[in-house]
Amino acid sequence: MILAPMQGLTEVLFRRTYETCFPGAIHMAVSPFIALTRNLRFSTDNAQIRDILPENNVGSIPVIPQILGKEPEEFILVANHLADLGYTGVNWNMGCPMRTVTAKHRGCGLMPHPDEVRTILDTIIPQIRLHLSVKVRLGLKEPDEIYRMVPVLNDYPLASVTIHPRLGRQQYTGVPDLDTFGQVLPLVKHPVIYNGDICSVADARRILERFPQVKDLMVGRGVLYRPTLPLELNATASTIPTPTSAPSPYCDDNIPTSSIHPPYTLLTPSWLFDKDSAWNQCFMIFPPRITTLCVLSFFINNVKV
Ligand SMILES: Cc1cc2nc3c(=O)[nH]c(=O)nc-3n(C[C@H](O)[C@H](O)[C@H](O)COP(=O)(O)O)c2cc1C
Repeated sequence: MILAPMQGLTEVLFRRTYETCFPGAIHMAVSPFIALTRNLRFSTDNAQIRDILPENNVGSIPVIPQILGKEPEEFILVANHLADLGYTGVNWNMGCPMRTVTAKHRGCGLMPHPDEVRTILDTIIPQIRLHLSVKVRLGLKEPDEIYRMVPVLNDYPLASVTIHPRLGRQQYTGVPDLDTFGQVLPLVKHPVIYNGDICSVADARRILERFPQVKDLMVGRGVLYRPTLPLELNATASTIPTPTSAPSPYCDDNIPTSSIHPPYTLLTPSWLFDKDSAWNQCFMIFPPRITTLCVLSFFINNVKV
């Protein structure tokens, strides 16, 4: 499972804290984007740069930095600087739906412009010293944009394509369009990572059973909502892809409901911790969202980068 980039949330403080609490549960994180700007300085004055400096990431979840922007020269400069820092991969953000971003043909604003993407890839691929992966949506305004983008992406040696099956104009409303995702999936020749609205083992199971071609899952809000989700996914990993296999004793659907306080059916399963542990008690007393926010703010206030 890959941790989704979430600007303002999954920066290094969160990643280090999470790794301390649940070592190895998340095998990779794409970090929140570094926005390309003219004269982007690789100095500690820049918080986006600080976030990916190796010395700040000791003890953190392994990271693939992400770049937002479309200026090839600056992209190459930043990507190769990341290579100098020891990174072997970089992710290109083609999914950010903010209007101020898309209006400049950045993020999801690139989705209606496959020719522009081809020109950028033609320039940057031969000149960068790390593997490039991309994170896309189905389109900015129409789902057919992805059908014109995929042949372009297929022409380049990408490490993976992460697809969040919403349109940019939806922002985060509505539900992921799994029908279109299913039609696009066999057209992509790169490993495909699914991203969107996975908040439980059952959600993950639904995606992996319906789309066995999916290579990995990227989860964002689900990890904040339910910090133990990656552990549960790992524990059930061997049972998830096989619809006919016996259900895992650890998945949501099988936690004996009699042991769970009725309003909080998304509680941490008791097999993870002693039932008397502070963490578990916390989840018993407060709804998970409140607990998660309290834990996060505690660490943000107490852990120094
Ligand atoms: C607060 C917030 C910040 C985000 N920042 C980024 C970002 O920096 N780069 C990116 O590619 N996606 C970003 N996203 C999108 C997420 O990576 C992810 O695609 C989206 O939340 C859907 O996945 P989820 O349902 O698992 O959360 C952000 C989303 C949120 C809610």
